[in-house]
Amino acid sequence: MSFVPTVDSPWANPYLIYAATIVGKIREAEGIDTYRLRFVDEQVRRRFRFAPGQFNMVYLFGVGEVAISIVSDPDEPQCLDHTIRVVGRVTKSIARLQQGDELGIRGPFGQGWPLDAAQGNDVVIVTGGLGCAPVVGAIEYIFRRRTQYGSVKILHGVKTPHDLLYRERFDAWRRHPDTEVLLTSDQPDKTWRYHIGVVTELFEQVRVDPARTIVLMCGPEIMMRLGVPILMQRGIPATAIYVSLERHMECGIGLCGHCQMGPYFLCKDGPVMRYDRVAPWLGQVGV
Ligand SMILES: Cc1cc2nc3c(=O)[nH]c(=O)nc-3n(C[C@H](O)[C@H](O)[C@H](O)COP(=O)(O)OP(=O)(O)OC[C@H]3O[C@@H](n4cnc5c(N)ncnc54)[C@H](O)[C@@H]3O)c2cc1C
Ligand code: FES
Repeated sequence: MSFVPTVDSPWANPYLIYAATIVGKIREAEGIDTYRLRFVDEQVRRRFRFAPGQFNMVYLFGVGEVAISIVSDPDEPQCLDHTIRVVGRVTKSIARLQQGDELGIRGPFGQGWPLDAAQGNDVVIVTGGLGCAPVVGAIEYIFRRRTQYGSVKILHGVKTPHDLLYRERFDAWRRHPDTEVLLTSDQPDKTWRYHIGVVTELFEQVRVDPARTIVLMCGPEIMMRLGVPILMQRGIPATAIYVSLERHMECGIGLCGHCQMGPYFLCKDGPVMRYDRVAPWLGQVGV
C-alpha cells in the first residue's frame, strides 16, 4: 500500500522540500523524541497524503537529510508525526530544535504495509525497539476499520522498560475487541509487569491460524532472521510475512543506489517487503 505522488499533487517533483513547523515535541525515551509537524504552506497541508509504513526524508537546513518513518494516523494527514532517535550528525542537530523551529520534508516515499491484502485476515504485528514506529499508522488504520480485519495481536519487545515508547497507545490498543497486546523486556526493572525475555518468546503465548494470518514485522534484522523461521514452523508461509527494512537512503526515489538490496531499491520497492523476496540478502552488508 502506498501513496504515489501524482502530477496534480504538491509532490510531483520528489526533490522539492516543503517547510514544516514543529508544533509539538514529546520526549518518548532517552534520546528519542516525537515531533509533530505542520506544513507552512496551506495547500501542501491540505493535499499531503500517506500510507502507513511510508517514510519521509526529513531535512535540516544546512545540515542534511535523513529517512524517517511516518508515525501518525493516515486518516489525520494534517498531523505529521515523526519519532526520531539521536544517532549521528543530522539527528543530533534535529534534537536541538524546539517548538516553533522549522524542518524540511520531502515525501512520502516507498511502499507501505499490505493493509488491503490483509483485510479479512488475522494480523500479527511483531516489533522490537524503535521498530514500533513504522507500524503505529498501520495499527490506527486497522482500528478505524476494525470489522474489516480478524484478530489483531501486537507483540513488542524492548531492551529495558525505559525503552518502551508510546505507553498510552499500547494501553489504548489492548482495549479494542479481539485484540491482544503482549510486551516483553530483555532486562526488567521492578515496575515491569509483562514478559521477560526476547520478543520471539511471545510467539508461544499466541494462537495463530496460519491459513488466515498476515504478519507485519519491524525491528532489528536479527529479530527478523530469528523470528521468521519460528513463524514458518508454525505454518505461516513466507509469502504472508512482511518486513520493514532500513538501509542508508539518499535520493528516496530509486536513482542513487544507496539502499540497494539484491535486485531491489528499498526506498521505492520497500521499505516494506514480502519476506520471501528479501530473505537471501537479510543480514548481509553491501548487497
Ligand atoms: C525507511 C527508513 C525509516 C526510518 N525510520 C526511522 C524512524 O522512524 N526514526 C528514527 O530515529 N530513525 C529512522 N530511520 C533511521 C534514520 O534514517 C537514521 O538513524 C539516520 O539516517 C541517521 O542519520 P545521522 O546523520 O543522524 O547519523 P549518521 O551520521 O549518518 O550516522 C552516525 C553513525 O550511526 C550509524 N547509523 C546510521 N544509521 C543508523 C541506524 N539506523 N541504526 C544504527 N546505527 C546507525 C552510522 O553507520 C554511523 O556510524 C529510518 C531509516 C530508514 C531507511
Ligand atoms: S535512496 Fe537512492 S536509490 Fe534508494
